[in-house]
Amino acid sequence: MKTVALELEDGIAWVAMSRPDKKNAISVEMAREMAELMDRLETDERCQVLVLTGAGESFSAGMDLKDYFRATDSATAVERARVYRLNASWQWRGLLHYPKPTIAMVNGWCFGGAFTPLAACDLAVAADEAVFGLSEINWGIIPAGVVCKAISTVMTQRDAMYYIMTGETFDGKRAAEMRLVNESVPRAQLHSRVGNLARVLMGKNPTVLRQAKTAFRYSSRMGWDEAADYLFAKSDQSTFMDPERGREEGMRQFLDEKSYKPGLGSYRRDKGGKR
Ligand code: COA
Repeated sequence: MKTVALELEDGIAWVAMSRPDKKNAISVEMAREMAELMDRLETDERCQVLVLTGAGESFSAGMDLKDYFRATDSATAVERARVYRLNASWQWRGLLHYPKPTIAMVNGWCFGGAFTPLAACDLAVAADEAVFGLSEINWGIIPAGVVCKAISTVMTQRDAMYYIMTGETFDGKRAAEMRLVNESVPRAQLHSRVGNLARVLMGKNPTVLRQAKTAFRYSSRMGWDEAADYLFAKSDQSTFMDPERGREEGMRQFLDEKSYKPGLGSYRRDKGGKR
């Protein structure tokens, strides 16, 4: 891979957009490599949590203006649609439905199209020093691709409109204040904070984690009655699909063994089955 870097470390796949000389702007080649890598990691047991970040001082400067705008201006509608579909396959469809937990680690510059994978990850942690911007207005376009939609899932209307219309930048602390990211920490602590968070997720039952992600994403779009019915069925499906029978084990350790408090932490997974 030329534009994506992978480091596998104790269950964590650190996946970096990697074109540091171009501030990790997302090219067609990067989209292709990222889609391929995410597909491979889906079934790779060495990846239990996927962390999306950027190489060097940048998370990503957004879509590559040469590849996605200048080069496609002369392309046919069919060619343009193919390129956008490829990008969607990892930036949002792929990440939104990824079967493993995903964390965006925003280490630096984050502009325009980079907001899409950021919003599509389950969780996000930024460096205080990171610089974000919905810069499209500054160079004469709307936040297209699917940026407007992506940010509407994680930002309030007031905040989104403000930054869409002014194109002003903001830092990691402000991103955390607006809940665009879960939290921000000094850059020197970013890697270890994200590693710790990934390890918390790795301590949970992976089948239930996967089902919980889907349950939240879909039920949030439903009315109460549809959601109640769907979640009833989803809960049964989750229990049925769980090879470690977490629900029974969790209840047994709390009610019979009295060895833990579910309100304060997870059941012991080494005894319940596959870890
Ligand atoms: N698309 C294409 N190339 C990009 C790019 C992008 N989105 N962002 C950066 N680059 C290229 C620059 O053209 C430059 O290329 P060069 O070395 O061939 O001249 C190289 O990356 C380094 O960028 P540079 O602008 O010199 O770095 P900087 O540290 O001075 O500024 C940014 C960094 C991120 C503030 C600045 O590059 C920038 O504003 N980029 C565009 C951000 C943007 O609006 N993205 C939205 C796209 S949807």
